[in-house]
Amino acid sequence: METQDCFRRRLATLTAHLQSSPPIQQGGPCLEMDICRAKGSSPGFKVALLGASGGIGQPLALLLKMNPLISVLHLYDVVNTPGVTADLSHTDTSAVVRGFVGKDQLEASLQGMELVIIPAGVPRKPGMTRDDLFNINAGIVRTLCEGVAKCCPNAIVHIISNPVNSTVPIAAEVFKKAGTYDPKRLMGVTTLDVVRANTFVAEVLGIDPKLVKVPVIGGHAGITILPILSQVTPSSSFTKDEVLYLTNRIQNGGTEVVEAKAGAGSATLSMAYAAAKFADATLHALKGEAGIIECAFVASQVTELPFFATRVLLGRNGVDEIFPLGPLNDFEREGLVKLKEELKASIDKGTAFTAKK
Ligand SMILES: NC(=O)c1ccc[n+]([C@@H]2O[C@H](COP(=O)([O-])OP(=O)(O)OC[C@H]3O[C@@H](n4cnc5c(N)ncnc54)[C@H](O)[C@@H]3O)[C@@H](O)[C@H]2O)c1
Repeated sequence: METQDCFRRRLATLTAHLQSSPPIQQGGPCLEMDICRAKGSSPGFKVALLGASGGIGQPLALLLKMNPLISVLHLYDVVNTPGVTADLSHTDTSAVVRGFVGKDQLEASLQGMELVIIPAGVPRKPGMTRDDLFNINAGIVRTLCEGVAKCCPNAIVHIISNPVNSTVPIAAEVFKKAGTYDPKRLMGVTTLDVVRANTFVAEVLGIDPKLVKVPVIGGHAGITILPILSQVTPSSSFTKDEVLYLTNRIQNGGTEVVEAKAGAGSATLSMAYAAAKFADATLHALKGEAGIIECAFVASQVTELPFFATRVLLGRNGVDEIFPLGPLNDFEREGLVKLKEELKASIDKGTAFTAKK
């Protein structure tokens, strides 16, 4: 009797995983859906990951599947999601995972989603800047955001696809055109810059990285990434050499990985870790937890630029408050002046791209 119950439960869970996943159903085991009891999953957030089969997408899918706040995880990509979904669905965490493959299934993957995370697109190769990715990734982000506007206009959207400095303005324009734009719900993911900054500063100070918090402002490319070392927690002072070393390493952390991978892509594991951390913070805030502060690239009025990364307070509606830059030293002020010029050009390029269509 117990064995039969156990079998039913397993079959029910498996069936819930397979719902809305036609390609997997076609090639997968023959299940009799009507005997299954589970039609969904435990209460929790519904999250879609677009670009789920990629270098970032796969480890990020795993980390999201392990998040107890998520009850439904939709994996969308133009390739390979049936395999990734089948594989991930065997992990014994409660989130139900469903796969969607190809543009015909984009809309189904987005229906009812509360958080949409987008790492779809091509990564850098050695010698490329993030801006070099613009021509391919701009179109991908535009198409995916059109889907979001149509199918889950109230979802929070996290943009990972580079160049973030341009893809976030592209997403904003798509949502404006669709009449669904809410700046509180659109965020460019710059958490990896913070994660790197925390790590490198902790190495210099010789302390546990968990204890370190470095605000990183500006954008997400080269000199537009500006770590504010004068505001590090715990309060610390650095020599001039340490400041130069840290600033340079944080700004070029992505290039360090691209070169080490020698043509096999850009940061994937650390990015998946960072994106999962940011998603977890966002979901805790959506649930109503107070005092959740992260850095993100958002529509902002802290400078004259329309988008800027700073510390933001996350809440039930996304970005509840954007914090000012705080006191900067001479080195940081100089960095701020330099970054604004480059960041403005990238933002304008993104805005102009959507206007062209
Ligand atoms: N924000 C950051 O800090 C950060 C850090 C690292 C990488 N990135 C960026 O993230 C993106 C993904 O990097 P990756 O290493 O995972 O690349 P990848 O090539 O390994 O994976 C990208 C995935 O996107 C999919 N894809 C392509 N077109 C698509 C479309 N129209 N719809 C859905 N999926 C599509 C591909 O099939 C692939 O599975 C790149 O743009 C990269 O530059 C951002």
